[in-house]
Amino acid sequence: MREPKNILVTGGAGFIGVNFVKMLLDEVPDVKVVNLDALTYAGNLTSLHDKMDEPRHVFVHGDIRDSDLLSRVAREHSIDAIVNFAAESHVDRSIEGPKVFVETNVLGTLALLEVARNADITFLQVSTDEVYGSLGDEGYFSEETNVKPNSPYSASKAAADHLVHSFKHTFGMDCLITRCSNNYGPYQFPEKMIPLCINNARLGRKIPIYGDGMQVRDWLFVTDHCHAIWKVLTEAEDEVFNVGGNNEKTNLDVVGAILALMGKDESLIEFVEDRPGHDRRYAIDASKIQSRLGWTPSVTFEEGIRRTVAWYQEHQAWMDEVTSGEYLGYYERVYGG
Ligand code: NAD
Ligand code: DAU
Repeated sequence: MREPKNILVTGGAGFIGVNFVKMLLDEVPDVKVVNLDALTYAGNLTSLHDKMDEPRHVFVHGDIRDSDLLSRVAREHSIDAIVNFAAESHVDRSIEGPKVFVETNVLGTLALLEVARNADITFLQVSTDEVYGSLGDEGYFSEETNVKPNSPYSASKAAADHLVHSFKHTFGMDCLITRCSNNYGPYQFPEKMIPLCINNARLGRKIPIYGDGMQVRDWLFVTDHCHAIWKVLTEAEDEVFNVGGNNEKTNLDVVGAILALMGKDESLIEFVEDRPGHDRRYAIDASKIQSRLGWTPSVTFEEGIRRTVAWYQEHQAWMDEVTSGEYLGYYERVYGG
């Protein structure tokens, strides 16, 4: 068992990071959370407005490639664990411009690993099932599946995973890797399919479906992912754990469910050109984390998608703010630079 007390969460202003930071502050009484985020287009402090004055939460505006800053933060806050969410995370953007994906996802992870190694800090890399590539109609990704990424995004995540493994193997560091399937829930930036669909439906805009819409993803409600990461960080002895919801759905199924919940017509769906190199199917075998650590998802897809649609409907101001460009000056405006 590990009992981290001073946790550096990177990317804690993004979708999953925000949910993880809130979970730690709400559910784990003794920990201090140092939240380091570069506040790219995907990071929004408005998502954390209720936690900015919390004494156990320290926000640092910074880049994971900044080794000096990382060393200073690790020293000043006696960091004993790093959970690395910080990344460029959108596949379509990686097709348009791969370079920043390598810079942040690979070189940023390397900078974090160096700091963790020098200060004997446990390191957990939040990775993705996309490192395994694409499945046909049958089979599942297990932790033993060969890594075979297909997009610049997943290639950069796979490269980072290899670095993490190499630091554990070569330097004997305490390193962990989680590989999760598609997350959904509150605070997801509306470039990703589910919040994009909800937002477009709300505004009466068309919903773009790539190709035939029969690609399959394994959806997991974001708080279930956060609990899995905490389990792995505190209890895992092995290096790699897959995390998945056992909720395989085609994209058309997901969009249909959202439109039904919103009382909108399927005529909003517009089939558009397919994503280049589009992975057909992801599906996770999560039996290792279930049998070894006793983790299971607690939110069904039906419940999770209902809660997600309701959350976005109740937080239209959040959606308007993160899509307006307004939030870019939010930190400086509210916290003075
Ligand atoms: P996100 O894009 O919503 O958030 C990423 C966060 O990282 C943002 O707050 C951004 O400002 C920050 N960031 C980007 N570059 C940075 C840098 N150089 N230095 C510091 N901060 C930086 O991403 P997300 O969906 O929350 O994903 C978080 C992590 O989980 C990623 O590593 C992603 O690969 C992984 N993951 C995501 C999913 C998913 O379905 N969203 C599934 C499995 C794994
Ligand atoms: O599997 C985990 C991964 O899930 C994470 O590692 C990534 O960070 C995360 O972005 C997500 O990747 P996907 O590419 O699966 O997610 P996205 O929401 O972009 O797309 C989901 C599916 O919907 C995919 O098959 C592409 C399709 N799609 C997406 C968009 C944005 C559409 O058909 N239309 C769209 O407009």
